[in-house]
Parts: sequence; structure tokens; C-alpha cells
Amino acid sequence: MKPHTIILLLLSLLLATVLNASSKEDKIQKNKRLNKVCFNCHNQKWYHYQNPETELEVKKRMFSELIIDSTEFYLSNHRTFKCISCHSDEYEEFPHPGELRMEEKYACNDCHGGDEDWAHFKFDEIEEQFWESSHSTSHDETFSCWMCHEPHSYHISARNEENLLDFIQYDNNICLNCHANADNYQRITDNINPNVIETHDWLPNQQLHFENVRCIECHTEISDNTLIAHKVLPKDEAVKNCVECHSGDSRLMESLYKHLAIESRAKAGFLNGVMLDQSFVIGANRNSILNKLSAWLFILVLGGITIHGLLRVILKKK
Ligand code: HEC
Ligand code: HEC
Ligand code: HEC
Ligand code: HEC
Ligand code: HEC
Ligand code: HEC
Ligand code: HEC
Repeated sequence: MKPHTIILLLLSLLLATVLNASSKEDKIQKNKRLNKVCFNCHNQKWYHYQNPETELEVKKRMFSELIIDSTEFYLSNHRTFKCISCHSDEYEEFPHPGELRMEEKYACNDCHGGDEDWAHFKFDEIEEQFWESSHSTSHDETFSCWMCHEPHSYHISARNEENLLDFIQYDNNICLNCHANADNYQRITDNINPNVIETHDWLPNQQLHFENVRCIECHTEISDNTLIAHKVLPKDEAVKNCVECHSGDSRLMESLYKHLAIESRAKAGFLNGVMLDQSFVIGANRNSILNKLSAWLFILVLGGITIHGLLRVILKKK
């Protein structure tokens, strides 16, 4: 290929990237104007409307569950969307027509399933794991993907987030949103919500653990296939054995550190070196150089003692 053909190719690639980014930005700006109508009511504590009967302006309190944070929405995965891409356009009317309550909601895989563009996220494999998870096997279909992926704020985290502690917190809040919130929990069941702190009181330094590992590290089946394992196991199959993490073949390398583990398996002689950038997990981070050094020290000391002993025996005889 001639040099100018290569330059031309590179330039058009660059142009395509810039156009793609700007078309996404254009789309957000265009839809923002449309969404503003909905946010006028759904983004605040109070909403207003004109009563056609009395011709008076009415001010009412918005149900707190129906308030949607616009800042979070425009940081979410689906920030390019119109509200009425997922909801009926009849919501533009107010009062909203009563039958809209029966509106059927899309599932993730109505849009993402079997689609090449999304193959790297493994939507289909995730769905399989989801159907086998404790939540699906003990509850009906009201326990959908949206229960953990809040439609108006969910954004990918582990895959993009550089700060480990931040995405641990983000992911744990997904679970705690029910397991530490009685109202949300009881959307699914009338049972009383067990207190997470009490049910985990066998774990020493509980706070430190909850800041440094995710709930899914102990509660899901390790998956070779997906970055985020989605099969939540029954509670009696959860990890309780310390050695599963605090050991040379720590399961953390196949879950929490999966995205980093691919980069380097051995760093400066440390076993599971990638963990070290983030934390020091007792038992999981033995250093092979230090291990060899201490073996040599041991041999030297043993040798020293033997020679010393021999000399004493020889000298005594004289
Ligand atoms: C004038 C204020 C107002 C506007 C504008 C408005 N809404 Fe609403 N919306 C409400 C109120 C009040 C409720 C709760 C009462 C009800 O369900 O009708 C509600 C309820 C909803 C619900 C929940 C229904 C359920 O299942 O309980 C959805 C979804 C919704 N609105 C979407 C939208 C969308 C999308 C838009 C923009 C196209 C929009 N709304 C514009 C006031 C408004
Ligand atoms: C990606 C699809 C999607 C988009 C975009 C979306 N919604 Fe929703 N929305 C949903 C789903 C799904 C539910 C039902 C969630 C559930 O049952 O837990 C929902 C529920 C709601 C509710 C009921 C309260 C709740 O949170 O359960 C309101 C109000 C609402 N949406 C308003 C809006 C408004 C306003 C916008 C635009 C800013 C919007 N939605 C954009 C999918 C979407
Ligand atoms: C109505 C169709 C629709 C539904 C339903 C839907 N998505 Fe999406 N999703 C999209 C589209 C389109 C995009 C690309 C948005 C863009 O960047 O312009 C997207 C983007 C994403 C991304 C990638 C974000 C990024 O920055 O690369 C993820 C992850 C995602 N969706 C997950 C989900 C999950 C999980 C669900 C269900 C809880 C879901 N989606 C439901 C259509 C949908
Ligand atoms: C019990 C909670 C839960 C349920 C239910 C759930 N997810 Fe997730 N999902 C998570 C958590 C936690 C993450 C990690 C979020 C992050 O850090 O990006 C995640 C991440 C994802 C990702 C991003 C994976 C990646 O490689 O970056 C996709 C895609 C996804 N889920 C799809 C789904 C689909 C589809 C369903 C339903 C079939 C579903 N999820 C149901 C908790 C859940
Ligand atoms: C270090 C591993 C570990 C971590 C991290 C962990 N769990 Fe657990 N969890 C367990 C074990 C083991 C049990 C079973 C306890 C028992 O039977 O004594 C359990 C029990 C549970 C139960 C069942 C309680 C009951 O009695 O019904 C729930 C719910 C739960 N965990 C949620 C969570 C959530 C949410 C998080 C994240 C904030 C989390 N777990 C983090 C290991 C863990
Ligand atoms: C929408 C609310 C909700 C979310 C979000 C949620 N859970 Fe649950 N979870 C429940 C309910 C409800 C139960 C069932 C309790 C019952 O059946 O009595 C449950 C049960 C469990 C159990 C016990 C299973 C058993 O054997 O009894 C574990 C473990 C668990 N969840 C872990 C998680 C983890 C980990 C996450 C985050 C990835 C999570 N949950 C997210 C509501 C939720
Ligand atoms: C899911 C993996 C996992 C399991 C299971 C686990 N740990 Fe940990 N543990 C960690 C991580 C990660 C840290 C935090 C390391 C750091 O300080 O950054 C930690 C920290 C600790 C610390 C604190 C060390 C310090 O710096 O103060 C102790 C003690 C500890 N674990 C003991 C245990 C015991 C005992 C068990 C079993 C009952 C256990 N761990 C189970 C992952 C785990």
C-alpha cells in the first residue's frame, strides 16, 4: 500500500470516530429538549399543571418513587434515549391515560439479545445465568434485570472504572438497594429483610471486607464466560471459607480482578501481582523472590549452626 493511501485511510477512520462521537452528542442534545417536558414534572418534588375546569394553576407533590434524577440519567448507559423510546408516547398527555399502568416494559434482550454489536457484553450468557440464580428460581418474573439495573441511572462500572474501591461500592450498592432497604426488598416478598450486618457477623473486619470485595465475589458461581458472574447461589452455597480468597489461587483473580488479571499474572515476583496495586490480601500475595531468599537464609543459618557445632566438637577434643 502506498503511503498516501495509508494516510487517507487513517484520516477517514479518524473522521468516522469524530462523526460517531458528535452524532451521539447531537442525539443527546436533540432528545434533551423532548425529555425536558417529562423532567419538568419527574425531576422535582413539586409539579404544576393548569386545571382546565377552574383555569387555575395547580401545584402538587410528586410521589418520591416517581422522581428521576436528570443528572444521573445523563450519565447512564441509555443517556442518548428519549423517555418515550422505552415508554409509550401517550405519556406526553397529562393526566396520563389510566391504561398506561398496564404498559408492558421492554426486557434488556429485546434490544441487546443476539446482536453482534453487543456480543462483547455477553447478554445471552448473562441471561442464562440470571434464570438459574436464586432470585429467579424463588421469585416470579417481577424479579427482572431492571431490579438491579435501575432503568434511569444504571451505567457500566467495573469494565470502565479505574478506581477499584469506587466500582466495588457501586456494585455493592446495587445489592444493598434491597438487602439494606426494607421498602425495596418488600416489593419482592412480604418476608422480613434479614439484617446484612448481623448475617455476616462471622466475618472479621466486616467493614474492611465490604469495602474491598463485592457481594458477588462470595454469592455467585465463578464464570469463565462473562466479566460479571450473574448466577447468585443459594445462601448455603456462599463462600465462607477464608482460604478461597486468602490463598495463592485466590478466587478473586477470577472475579474481582478478572479485568486486570489478563494484563499480568506475575508482577515483580509476587504471586497474583495485580492485586497489589489495590490491596494486600493476606495469603494471596506471597512473593516468590522473598520465598526463595528465605529458603536460602534458612540453609545458610542451618549450615552456620552445623559448622559451629562441628568446630566446637573438634576444638573440645584437643
Ligand atoms: C404535568 C406533570 C407530568 C408530566 C409533564 C409527565 N408526568 Fe409522568 N406522571 C406524573 C404524575 C403525577 C404521575 C403519577 C400519577 C399517574 O400515574 O398518573 C406520573 C406517572 C408516570 C409514570 C408511572 C406510571 C406507573 O406505572 O405508575 C410514568 C412511566 C411516567 N409518568 C412517564 C412520563 C413520561 C415518559 C413523561 C414525558 C413524556 C411524563 N411522564 C410527563 C406527572 C407528569
Ligand atoms: C431504557 C429504557 C428506559 C428509558 C430510556 C426510560 N425509562 Fe422509565 N422505566 C423503564 C422501566 C423498565 C421502568 C420500570 C422499572 C421497574 O418496574 O422497576 C420504568 C419506570 C419509570 C417510572 C416509574 C417509577 C420507577 O422508577 O419505577 C417513571 C416515572 C419513569 N420510568 C419515567 C421515565 C422518564 C421521565 C424517562 C426519561 C427521562 C424515562 N422513564 C426513561 C425504562 C426506561
Ligand atoms: C429499548 C432498547 C434497549 C433496552 C430495553 C435496553 N437497552 Fe441497553 N442500550 C440500548 C442502546 C441503543 C444502547 C446504545 C446507546 C448509545 O450509546 O447511543 C445501549 C447501551 C447499553 C450498554 C452500553 C453502554 C456503553 O457505554 O457502552 C449497556 C451495558 C446496556 N445498554 C445494558 C442494558 C441492560 C443491562 C439493559 C436491561 C436492564 C438494557 N441495556 C436495556 C438499547 C436498549
Ligand atoms: C442481582 C442483581 C443483578 C441482576 C438481577 C442482573 N444484573 Fe447485570 N449486573 C449486576 C452487577 C452488580 C453488575 C456489575 C455492574 C458494573 O460494575 O458494571 C452487572 C453488570 C451487567 C452487565 C455489564 C457486563 C460487562 O461486561 O460490563 C450487563 C450487560 C448486564 N449486567 C446484563 C444483565 C441482564 C441482561 C440481566 C437480566 C437477564 C441482568 N444483568 C440482571 C447485577 C445484576
Ligand atoms: C466473604 C464472603 C461474603 C461476602 C463478601 C458477602 N456475603 Fe452474604 N453471605 C455469605 C455467607 C457465607 C452467607 C451464609 C451465612 C450463614 O449461613 O451463616 C451469607 C448470607 C447472605 C444472605 C442470606 C441471609 C439470610 O440469612 O437469609 C444474604 C441476603 C446476603 N448474604 C447478602 C449479601 C450482600 C448484599 C453482600 C454485600 C454487601 C454480601 N452478602 C457479602 C458470604 C458473604
Ligand atoms: C430488588 C431487590 C433485590 C436486589 C436488587 C437483590 N436482592 Fe438478593 N434477594 C432479594 C429477595 C426478596 C430475596 C429472597 C428472600 C426470600 O425469598 O425470602 C433475596 C435473596 C438473596 C439471597 C439468599 C438466597 C437464599 O438462598 O435464600 C442472596 C445470597 C442474595 N439475595 C444476594 C444478592 C446479591 C449478591 C445481590 C446483588 C448482586 C442481590 N441479592 C440483589 C431481593 C433483592
Ligand atoms: C471474598 C474474598 C475473601 C474472603 C472469603 C475472606 N477475605 Fe479476608 N480479606 C479479603 C480482602 C480483599 C481483604 C482486604 C485486603 C486489604 O486490606 O486491602 C481482606 C482482609 C482481611 C483481614 C484484614 C487484614 C488487615 O489488613 O487488617 C483479615 C484479618 C481477614 N481478611 C481475615 C479473613 C477471615 C478470617 C476470613 C474467613 C472467615 C476471610 N478473611 C474471608 C478477602 C476475603
